Amino acid sequence: MMDVNVLIKKDMKEKQELVNIALDRFLPRKDEYPKDIHKALRYSTFAGGKRLRPYLTILAYQLYKDKAEMITPVAAAIEMVHTFSLIHDDLPDIDDDEYRRGKKSCHTVFGEGVALLAADSLLISAFELITHSELPDRLKVQFVNELAHESGIKGLIAGQMVDIESEGKKVDKKTLSFIHNNKTARLINLSLRFGALGAKAPAKDLKVIEDYGNKIGMAFQIIDDLLDIEGSKATLGKTIGKDEIQGKATFPSVFGIEESRQMAADLTEQAKARIATLGDRSIKLRILADYLLNRKS
Ligand code: IPE
Ligand code: IPE
Ligand code: MG
Ligand code: MG
Ligand code: MG
Repeated sequence: MMDVNVLIKKDMKEKQELVNIALDRFLPRKDEYPKDIHKALRYSTFAGGKRLRPYLTILAYQLYKDKAEMITPVAAAIEMVHTFSLIHDDLPDIDDDEYRRGKKSCHTVFGEGVALLAADSLLISAFELITHSELPDRLKVQFVNELAHESGIKGLIAGQMVDIESEGKKVDKKTLSFIHNNKTARLINLSLRFGALGAKAPAKDLKVIEDYGNKIGMAFQIIDDLLDIEGSKATLGKTIGKDEIQGKATFPSVFGIEESRQMAADLTEQAKARIATLGDRSIKLRILADYLLNRKS
């Protein structure tokens, strides 16, 4: 039998290519005027990256439908929002990171002004890309609305805000969960939701998918915290050990390494059990949950 991790990696790679093609088609050429911003946004978008969020969108869509063309622009739009969040996250006044996706971070190469504008344009253009999709207008409006909500001040930005204001402070479990849920889990959850909505999933399935998404999303950020301690820069593509230096609110800083790993493992088991209620077709989402728990990058 083929190793399930090999299978998921191969599948992820296949979908990465679809998403990369959609991104490449949509983003302005590098040599378009004014060049630097286009170079910068392409640099960060194509620096690497697992393309996890678009993969989740496609997997959720494929719970119901075979071909992924219809949903690919939406998957690519989510990756643009994610990439915007990474460029801002690395800025000197946020996490001050020199490396991202195995390369120098955007502002390190292009300067802060260009990095800010490149990230802004990725965020804004993501909404434009959704409107270019072949989805029914009603769904486009819903996606624009939900993406704005989940990545905005009630979602990702709120998580990032509490993340920076908690630096160097002792945080309680409630604050920590707020940060991780908002800065990371919600966009992961939304990625799945868009796939399912795009494929007209029944309401009862949406609830199952949402529970799975919340749990793998939270586990994903706990593992990100652990990799900052136990990972390697070569595989991770970003500087490690910085969370502790900056006094970041992380699961290991509050619960310790062992307990944090156990929490991520428990969330993964719960997510798998929940999605298993959708039957055999959810097999990839179950394999993926374990893959993400054991990831090194
Ligand atoms: C990094 O996300 C930021 C977090 C929310 C933890 P990823 O680990 O998905 O980063 P890429 O896209 O693969 O670079
Ligand atoms: C990432 O949290 C949250 C984002 C929304 C970008 P981190 O700050 O821990 O992510 P990394 O470790 O820099 O990728
Ligand atoms: Mg951060
Ligand atoms: Mg960071
Ligand atoms: Mg981190």
